[in-house]
Amino acid sequence: MLEARWVTKHYRQGTNIVAAVDRVSIAVREGEIALIIGPSGSGKSTLLSMLGCILQPTSGAVLVAGYDVSGVPERVLPRIRQRCFGFVFQSFHLFPFLTARENVETAMRLQKVPREARRKTAIDLLSDCGLGQRMDFYPASLSGGEKQRVAIARALAADPFILLADEPTASLDSANGEAVLEMLRHLALARGKAVVLASHDPRARHFADSVYNLADGRLNRLR
Ligand SMILES: Nc1ncnc2c1ncn2[C@@H]1O[C@H](COP(=O)(O)OP(=O)(O)OP(=O)(O)O)[C@@H](O)[C@H]1O
Ligand SMILES: [Mg+2]
Repeated sequence: MLEARWVTKHYRQGTNIVAAVDRVSIAVREGEIALIIGPSGSGKSTLLSMLGCILQPTSGAVLVAGYDVSGVPERVLPRIRQRCFGFVFQSFHLFPFLTARENVETAMRLQKVPREARRKTAIDLLSDCGLGQRMDFYPASLSGGEKQRVAIARALAADPFILLADEPTASLDSANGEAVLEMLRHLALARGKAVVLASHDPRARHFADSVYNLADGRLNRLR
């Protein structure tokens, strides 16, 4: 479903060029949760951004559903991101002036899903996330764990093939972090999504099918 072949990203830092991600290959199937662990600065977010077509690799290829996106023009990338990917971030990134349900509906609005269908999908997803009683709340009146569950529901709303989550539990205490990982696993498996999760959270290992370690831009499979 998602594959990187020998991807490298170079950044210029002053007069130096550093390889934030160095010749990394990874393949993730549908229904698989791949976890990438590694210390701060090891390149996790850079790798996820390349996998999610947010950042172009310096070299190497990214294949989305078997389709090599390396050569496609920049202007096509937003459409690929919208169609194929759901994104979840550490700091939730919810729209503060929209309710939980409206936040979940936004992704479907971009895809021109009719209003009634949007509403139904949002209600179903939020119920699956245990937020049936919180749908009309604004983000400011939700706990961190609830906000992240809304963000996961939103990421899945447009039915992407792939879910990318960058440190989704880093802002949460351990009970909420665990609930969010549990939810992510349950929803992704039920819907056959390929998931790539970057996290330093050691508990995340229990929720992953494959585990990789990233150190200084080099990726090694641990499990
Ligand atoms: N835009 C940029 N320009 C220059 N260097 C960058 C840029 N973005 C990231 N880097 C460098 O690339 C390396 C990898 O950064 P990245 O953010 O991918 O790490 P990370 O593993 O996600 O770290 P964290 O756990 O802190 O989120 C770091 O050394 C960082 O300083
Ligand atoms: Mg990061």
